[in-house]
Amino acid sequence: MTLLLNVEDHRRRARRVLPRLVFDYVDGGAEDERCMRRNRDALEALPLVPECLRDTRTVDIGIELFGRRWHAPFAIAPIGLAGLVRPRADALLASAAQAAGVPFILSTASNTRLEDVRDAAPDALLWMQLYVMGERAIAERIVRRARAARFEALVLTVDVPVSGLRERDLRHGFRVPMRLTPGTLLDMARHPAWLLRLARGGMPQFANLLPDDDGAPVSAQTQAALLSRAMDRSLTWDSLGWLRKLWDGPLLVKGLLGAQDAKRAVRYGADAIVVSNHGGRQLDAAPASIAALPAMVEAVDGRIPVLVDGGMRRGSDVVKALALGARAALVGRAPIYGLASGGEQGALSVLQLLAQETERTMTLLGATHTRELGPRHVDQPEIRSPTEQEHAAAQLKENTHGKPSIYPVHATA
Ligand SMILES: Cc1cc2nc3c(=O)[nH]c(=O)nc-3n(C[C@H](O)[C@H](O)[C@H](O)COP(=O)(O)O)c2cc1C
Repeated sequence: MTLLLNVEDHRRRARRVLPRLVFDYVDGGAEDERCMRRNRDALEALPLVPECLRDTRTVDIGIELFGRRWHAPFAIAPIGLAGLVRPRADALLASAAQAAGVPFILSTASNTRLEDVRDAAPDALLWMQLYVMGERAIAERIVRRARAARFEALVLTVDVPVSGLRERDLRHGFRVPMRLTPGTLLDMARHPAWLLRLARGGMPQFANLLPDDDGAPVSAQTQAALLSRAMDRSLTWDSLGWLRKLWDGPLLVKGLLGAQDAKRAVRYGADAIVVSNHGGRQLDAAPASIAALPAMVEAVDGRIPVLVDGGMRRGSDVVKALALGARAALVGRAPIYGLASGGEQGALSVLQLLAQETERTMTLLGATHTRELGPRHVDQPEIRSPTEQEHAAAQLKENTHGKPSIYPVHATA
């Protein structure tokens, strides 16, 4: 029995138990996968600085957002087509999130109907992610249904005007229309447990777009648009007003990386933003989201919460995000690796591992509450916002009475 001690262990197991086509769909990024690597590299390169001899008998890793308490400072990010990993994946993830006391964000491109996800996890904190495709009426219907099913926040994803070029998928013939190569078919046959589950559960469909009792069927064109992520390119900041009329709960904008966009989000009435490069699956030249975070936090200037995702594989990564000003992090691939390696229990075990690591990291930092985490816990001046860097430089000058120091700024600030 292999020990599954961390997310990477779950990832390795996922790689073994999934056909390559499915593993690569989850694991891969756009083009040369530089952005995806950048996410990890930037997190790994960011040291945390502990404060010692502090009373850490109780450490609270929970947060509060939009009037709701989360048991850990992260949520499960929306993942489309998770049903390829396991039938009923979205329901299993929602149920794991409910057990862990963290939110689950359901993708528009989920393979379980949003109402069925709610039934599977009646007490879960559910948020709905929205893709807006050509026919706006479809998005309107999803929003209405999400509200009826007690989804609590709406997350508009804005970094997909066109799909990033996922070359791993193309090599496997995983595109519209699907063209499976003999190699891929053989690969599937070599994973009989996965194949059997798929045979029992049926080919995953975009369940939210299937005709429901009161709705007209969604055109094949829209289904194809969702698979190839061809979104409505006429969507602009003004469209937030259109959504506002349909949705009176918290409205988040996911996929921003620039400070000007962060300011626009505030101006156009978003309730929070998610700093994200879609896990490196869209613009391969995009910055690491953790590197973009400080300037985004500075741009919104405390007016709305900032969330961040991309490359979070350890509790310490989540702590780094919080220390740089994020209210919470989202984890995308990590719980999917868990789902692949052990179903709902595997996903829950990943969430628990991340929570334990978060708690241990905070204890080692001497922080007893997520609120206490701040830029002083992060030792990397170039990733701080310009104002923080100025502040650090001023502090250094003060500390050294204006004399030049032999230490670089980050060693003392
Ligand atoms: C397989 C896969 C499918 C995704 N599908 C969606 C989606 O439907 N909607 C969305 O907003 N983001 C989607 N994302 C992006 C995630 O929500 C999230 O931003 C990203 O996975 C975070 O990076 P991480 O996987 O390194 O944690 C997807 C990511 C992956 C890996």
